[in-house]
Amino acid sequence: MTNILLIGNGAREHAMAEAVMRSKRDQKLFSFMKANNPGIADLSEKVALGSYSDVDAIKAFAKENEIDFAIIGPEDPLNIGAVDSMEEIGIKSFGPSKNLARLETSKSWTRMLVQKYNVGGNPLFRVFTSVEGLKEFLEQMDEVVIKPDGLTGGKGVKVQGDHFDTKEEAYDYCKEVLETHASVIVEEKLVGEEFSLQCVSDGVNVVMTPPVQDHKRRFNGDKGPNTGGMGSYTDADGSLPFMTKQDALDGLEITRKVAKAILEETGEKYVGVMYGGFIITKKGVRLIEYNARWGDPEAMNTHSVMKTDYIDLIEAAVDGKLDQIDVEFEPMATVCKYAVPTEYPDAKNVEGVVSVADVPEDIKIYYASVDKREDGLHITSSRTIGVVGIARTIKEAEAKCEAIFDKIKGPVDHRTDIGTEDLIQKRIDHMKEIRD
Ligand code: AMP
Ligand code: GLY
Repeated sequence: MTNILLIGNGAREHAMAEAVMRSKRDQKLFSFMKANNPGIADLSEKVALGSYSDVDAIKAFAKENEIDFAIIGPEDPLNIGAVDSMEEIGIKSFGPSKNLARLETSKSWTRMLVQKYNVGGNPLFRVFTSVEGLKEFLEQMDEVVIKPDGLTGGKGVKVQGDHFDTKEEAYDYCKEVLETHASVIVEEKLVGEEFSLQCVSDGVNVVMTPPVQDHKRRFNGDKGPNTGGMGSYTDADGSLPFMTKQDALDGLEITRKVAKAILEETGEKYVGVMYGGFIITKKGVRLIEYNARWGDPEAMNTHSVMKTDYIDLIEAAVDGKLDQIDVEFEPMATVCKYAVPTEYPDAKNVEGVVSVADVPEDIKIYYASVDKREDGLHITSSRTIGVVGIARTIKEAEAKCEAIFDKIKGPVDHRTDIGTEDLIQKRIDHMKEIRD
């Protein structure tokens, strides 16, 4: 019997819970959640509700249920030190320690590491703790991106041309950031198509899962504010229509070098997910950032088609034996779209109830920010339900996914263009223009 603790309550963790329970092992799932996700609860032997910062409650729940290892879903518990807490009571985790979660929480740490160990993949960048030299540096680049250093959920990042126009505005924003943050990163704006590459590391060996493309903007046609991600797709051949297999391998190579650099720099092995946001530019694949966890929504795509036994994979990572396992995926395309509150992402204190009528078995429904109460499924201000269609082609997967939205009733909507031929053709044309 393998007792597994899962920390997290989103759609990503629902997909993870499902992968755990799909495993052929003799397993039981114990879930620690901050809201009652009904999908995860249904798959769990036992559930505890609490705050991720209540490490004593998490430890007690783990001890009481004789947990063999813990899997940490979101960035918050990683940043709070959930892995370190588990280690204190002799439980191994799939996820980095608080120290190594800096890969995500400190953008400057990661950029400096990549630079120090000559990994390659960085844009021109500099970290500023004051405005000294800032004006001169801004003038060295055509267009720039400004990033507050620290965990801001990607929301503090401002891109020239999208969020502001002039270097003066860039300077003012840096100044504003420095009033509340110890440092700000200024980097060259990269132009190209983005993909997410979620890799698994045992500290020495790094393996990749199929590349995914996420859609950050709220509305069709990539319009509106940035969000946590409105939907994503993968292709059956383990690549994406606008990229080459080599592009993904370049992302993997960068990630392998980063895992090695982390070990050299800290003496600690990075165990867990290294999810790189990459961009394919005219000059090749470049790194935008790393996250220390599976992507949300990207995890829903890749977990849905994972052929390898999930517990075997997680255990191999935790035990430093990733070289002994083949990570395989069904040759199927996936399209994931999020139903989100109509006013997402700007509104706070959103209230409402959603319902989902019968969904065919070959469509996956993953609950996100919902709370199951006696009178129904309550929504919050965050994303509501992830829907994944799986088929031989992206086109068919998109159609399957889209068909389900008639069955979701409540104050939510979604992006209808994700995974459509038109939008994918735009990505292909964009990339062609860049490579020419
Ligand atoms: P991050 O939080 O670093 O992922 O940044 C959020 C978004 O800003 C990314 O998904 C990119 O679309 C964009 N971005 C970040 N850094 C750059 C860059 N150097 N060049 C162009 N776009 C960027
Ligand atoms: N897909 C965006 C994220 O997981 O951060």
